[in-house]
Amino acid sequence: MTDSPSAYDLAYAAAQANPEEFWAEAAMALHWDTPWERVLDDRAAPLYRWFSGGQMNTCFNAIDRHVLNGRGAQAAVIYDSPVTSTKRTISYAELQEEVARCAGVLRSIGVEQGDRVIIYMPMTPETLIGMYACARIGAVHSVVFGGFAPHELAVRIDDAQPKVVLTASCGIEVQRIVPYKPLLDKALEVAAHKPAHCVVLQREVHRCDLTPDRDIDWAEAMTTAEPVPCVPVLATDPLYILYTSGTTGQPKGVVRDNGGHAVALLWTMKHVYNVEPGDVFWAASDFGWAVGHSYIVYAPLLAGCTTVVHEGKPVGTPDAGGFWRVIQEHNVRVLFTAPTAFRAIKREDPTGLFYAKYDVSCLRALFLAGERLDPDTYHWARALLQTPVIDHWWQTETGWPVAANCLGLTSFPVKPGSPTKPVPGYTVEILDEDGRALPSNKEGAVVIKLPLPPGTLPTLWRDDARYIETYLTRYPGYYLTGDGGYIDEDGYLFIMGRVDDIIIVAGHNLSTGSMEQALSSHQDVAECAVVGVRDALKTQLPVGLVVLKAGVLRSAAELSAELVQLVRDQVGPVANLKQVLVVSRLPKTRSGKVLRKTMRAIADGDAWTMPPTIDEPATLDEIASAFATIGLARGPGSPIGG
Ligand code: COA
Ligand code: AMP
Repeated sequence: MTDSPSAYDLAYAAAQANPEEFWAEAAMALHWDTPWERVLDDRAAPLYRWFSGGQMNTCFNAIDRHVLNGRGAQAAVIYDSPVTSTKRTISYAELQEEVARCAGVLRSIGVEQGDRVIIYMPMTPETLIGMYACARIGAVHSVVFGGFAPHELAVRIDDAQPKVVLTASCGIEVQRIVPYKPLLDKALEVAAHKPAHCVVLQREVHRCDLTPDRDIDWAEAMTTAEPVPCVPVLATDPLYILYTSGTTGQPKGVVRDNGGHAVALLWTMKHVYNVEPGDVFWAASDFGWAVGHSYIVYAPLLAGCTTVVHEGKPVGTPDAGGFWRVIQEHNVRVLFTAPTAFRAIKREDPTGLFYAKYDVSCLRALFLAGERLDPDTYHWARALLQTPVIDHWWQTETGWPVAANCLGLTSFPVKPGSPTKPVPGYTVEILDEDGRALPSNKEGAVVIKLPLPPGTLPTLWRDDARYIETYLTRYPGYYLTGDGGYIDEDGYLFIMGRVDDIIIVAGHNLSTGSMEQALSSHQDVAECAVVGVRDALKTQLPVGLVVLKAGVLRSAAELSAELVQLVRDQVGPVANLKQVLVVSRLPKTRSGKVLRKTMRAIADGDAWTMPPTIDEPATLDEIASAFATIGLARGPGSPIGG
């Protein structure tokens, strides 16, 4: 007798056999102003669209719909800010009112459907309100993470060409206040595009001067604004642009549409995260990342849950018990964060003394993503929490998990190190260099068969060509994830890491290219490379290697400090670049390609193979010695067969 298929098997098979039927059924859970003409529109393949012709509004579905259905008094947002000692609960009805007014503010300063609005703000409810205000009137928001420097903000302003910027007087880090106004002013000084207005949220801990004629006080504008209703938009119209690191210094503007996004996110809340309307869902991330967009702002409210907006860190606000306090106090059902947050807690509280002070029995599951969940962290979290600990894999581009243990369908036994199986809607394959499917347990390029499901990126902002070239060209018919990995004999996926020049630092995806761009702008630097080296807390940390221009005689320590500051100023503190080494040459192939992968293996102390095309093998000895000066390059240290 064979086992009957699991709920996961049935859902997976249904999404494979007839994706249009599967997603059309999921879409029925939303309010549509006009029904779609085509569920999957393949007329411009390989650029696919979902629900074309349909009209709806994301803000209406996430907020107004629930107020109309009797959820007005329920908490929509719980703001918990240990850094300002503030707590505030906003009901769905209050949120509707505030979002409608904020949309009125935007309208009053000329923002219309399709216009872009840059949001450079901290973890305050106003950020979420600003995002929904854009959605309400069909404007396209682009949130820029507060840890990025003015140059990165300027690059995004020039690409998105916003009519307006929403900002605040400051953000608050554990040890310091981060005044945003000088950063914004600097960005606007260097950007070629000039937005007409900046709406500034003044925070009591640090107020700022407003620039006459340009800046508008957020609170004042809200008091006089007329609330505006939701505008129906096409399902295929953009809801937002979120920039993510590319392999060059120019970030990629991931576009998210309205219809497919709402359908997919709502579906995941029940089927992946297993939460019900009314449950409290907490994604401890930042609005500036994809996790923040999808699982702080949109998905929990689409599902009628309560979302937690936490302005704090896993440690230091005030201690390693901060997360447990929030869970207990707000009755959190599901926590979603990055493994690095748990490693930070584990480092400060290895035996769970802080944990023991709180009752977190309300928590039903912990979901982790953003980087590989190493088995040690998995076991530690599992033993501490005594609840399911779910590793799931996704990217800014997909916007929702590609692989997960779907708790709302079937809970599979966990294999530490694996995000379990592809989520219904995704066909994940492992291909070799020549595009041939690899058998189980063989590592290769992780790809997703086209078309991607709804909610994933339809393209890059105003750049179909870059989208096609970056993601769809290497293996025709597939989306290239940029990750390497394998699928085992039970169908479990294992993601082993990036195969390009993107590094994962504390759960953030960063481009070594943009750091190299900053380093090479220094007058004394002839050439440079940045490699991501292994780190016990943050997974990877960037290390810079620079070759100086001929005749430059400078103290390496002094120069290194200057270069670290340069990256901080140009890319931002979030880059985490703290070490720059001066070397006489970079290892290269005969065709001039810098051997970053080999350098990384040397730094990590992994076994490595002498690249057959290397120009001068001796350069690697100098690199190993340089890494050794900062405590790296410990391990086999010699080339396999070299
Ligand atoms: N605005 C300004 N600066 C910021 C910032 C922001 N929003 N966020 C981070 N920074 C700064 C930090 O203050 C730090 O500056 P420093 O070099 O002066 O110390 C620097 O950027 C590096 O930040 P980070 O890598 O986040 O290190 P951290 O020590 O501040 O915190 C963790 C480490 C692990 C606690 C933190 O990264 C974390 O909570 N990560 C997991 C959650 C998460 O956000 N994941 C994202 C996807 S799920
Ligand atoms: P980002 O776009 O910043 O979300 O980063 C996406 C990248 O993070 C992926 O391509 C992976 O390299 C990595 N990543 C995210 N989640 C996981 C996971 N659960 N396991 C392994 N790697 C992950």
